[in-house]
Amino acid sequence: MIVILGAMDTEIAEFLSVMEGRETAQWQGIEEHRGMLDGHPVLVSKTGVGKVMAAMRAQHFIDRVGPKALLFTGLAGSLKRDIRIGDTVLGRDLVQHDLESAALGVPRGQIPFSDIRFVEPDAQLLDIAARYQPAEGRLHLGRICTGDQFITHRELASHAHLHDELDGDAVEMEGAAVALVCSLNGLPFLVARTISDMADGDAVADYEQILPRASLNSLAFVRHMLAGL
Ligand code: ADE
Repeated sequence: MIVILGAMDTEIAEFLSVMEGRETAQWQGIEEHRGMLDGHPVLVSKTGVGKVMAAMRAQHFIDRVGPKALLFTGLAGSLKRDIRIGDTVLGRDLVQHDLESAALGVPRGQIPFSDIRFVEPDAQLLDIAARYQPAEGRLHLGRICTGDQFITHRELASHAHLHDELDGDAVEMEGAAVALVCSLNGLPFLVARTISDMADGDAVADYEQILPRASLNSLAFVRHMLAGL
């Protein structure tokens, strides 16, 4: 079983439209869908937005179905000028950008009293993913920064650390949480994000505009991964 997650309904809708033999159940008020996708048994679910929602559901599915791998797809804001709207970013590593304990002498993103900071996905999954050719835009391997904030020009002013302390490539709200849960459970995972905005003053409008195209990109990406597994 491969678990395929996205934060919101719109981010998983395309998977549901092509799944066969779909059976739907509910846990904590959110639907989960089991069925086949291109001949592979899959479980597709949204997590809800933010690190807590994403982490809770990731652990739940790991406990319940003992998956072979977990793929998380959806949207992200770009933190680099050459990573454009419509591009795909594969998380080469992921970090919680809002985890800040400088007072304890710990670098941003590091969990105090541990050496956990940048979490890396499964090398084999990343290898397969790096061969993905998106229909639109370019493919980047990069650092995904995760936090419980939607970043626009207002937040960016107070989030210089996304660039100077973390050298991030993309920003979103779930990836590093899911990555950490998977990594602690020894489960191969990968996070792939379509860039929806430049984390600037146009972020909200851009985000809404690209959703349909981004969902198709996520589906094409997941199909590429399933074919390579
Ligand atoms: N997901 C997509 N765009 C985002 C942004 N600008 N900030 C946080 N999460 C996002």
